[in-house]
Amino acid sequence: MRSPYPLIPLASAGAFLTGCASPQNYVFDTAGPAAASLAHLGWYGLLAFMAATFVTLCLIGWLAFRRRGTLAEHEPISSGDRGQSWILIGGFAIPFAVLSFLLVATMDTLNAFPMMDGHEQLPDIVVTGHQWWFQLNYEFAGHPDQNVQTATEIHVPVGRPMTLALRSGDVIHSFWVPKLHGKVDVIPGQTNFIRIEADRPGTYQGECAEFCGEQHAHMRLLVVAQSPEEYQRWLTRMRDDAAQPTDPAVRHGEDVFLSQACALCHTIRGTLANGTVGPDLTHIGSRLTIAGGEFKNTPGNLGAWVTSAQNLKPGALMPNLSTLDGPDLGALISYLESLK
Ligand code: CUA
Repeated sequence: MRSPYPLIPLASAGAFLTGCASPQNYVFDTAGPAAASLAHLGWYGLLAFMAATFVTLCLIGWLAFRRRGTLAEHEPISSGDRGQSWILIGGFAIPFAVLSFLLVATMDTLNAFPMMDGHEQLPDIVVTGHQWWFQLNYEFAGHPDQNVQTATEIHVPVGRPMTLALRSGDVIHSFWVPKLHGKVDVIPGQTNFIRIEADRPGTYQGECAEFCGEQHAHMRLLVVAQSPEEYQRWLTRMRDDAAQPTDPAVRHGEDVFLSQACALCHTIRGTLANGTVGPDLTHIGSRLTIAGGEFKNTPGNLGAWVTSAQNLKPGALMPNLSTLDGPDLGALISYLESLK
């Protein structure tokens, strides 16, 4: 029978390479300067780790395969000057060199992140973590009439640094968009500032990176990086109130929304709905995802979310509106999807 050992490196290579093509290959496939400097540090760490592992494995190999009898039976391996110098070199000098190198590289990387506090400048976007979704407020100093509120989907113009103020409405969360920036905690009673910038257009996935309760794993966000013109168009559209429905079926959907519990928790600007417990739904139809980034925004998913949120994301504040009959539900979904 042939030895199976040659297959081991092949099999493990497969396991490593599957990571390369996945959207989870976050750390090294960066799309912005902050993430790029973290990726550099990652490479330094990886190289230092590989070098240390290689030297260690060589020493173990040398011990395992050296010719028997090169040391006298009665001579313990660590005795004498040779044993002492091995301890000094391997136990002190090499770790000291590797750790010093990593310390300098880390300090260098930290210097690349600007320290900011609230007095220096106003943020472009205030991000507020809630259980279990991110609220987003675009703020324009001196022009509060131009402010925009949305959820889960951060739009940014390519090539322009955007200052984010991170706050929490309840417990500790963590804001992480790996292709653009490292993790930053979102802490009640404190505002943390970061600057993100996207080098190229794209949709970058983010998530909450701090355990924040039952649905922590389902608290996501998207960063949509667009050309400055597209971004401006998006912003202008977001400032508009919701369009008045003209289609009778869609108008019935609006009536359903306003007469059900929906309006107590959600805002749709331009209507009487002004709840602040859940996400602002003024332009829900234009968003790529629903339920804190958990599901694609399709009529089917939206219907399932409205009627069975507690089955899909148990513990979330969204109740099951299971009393809606088929026609009312259909009209409600058509109305929400019309809010572009
Ligand atoms: Cu929010 Cu984990």
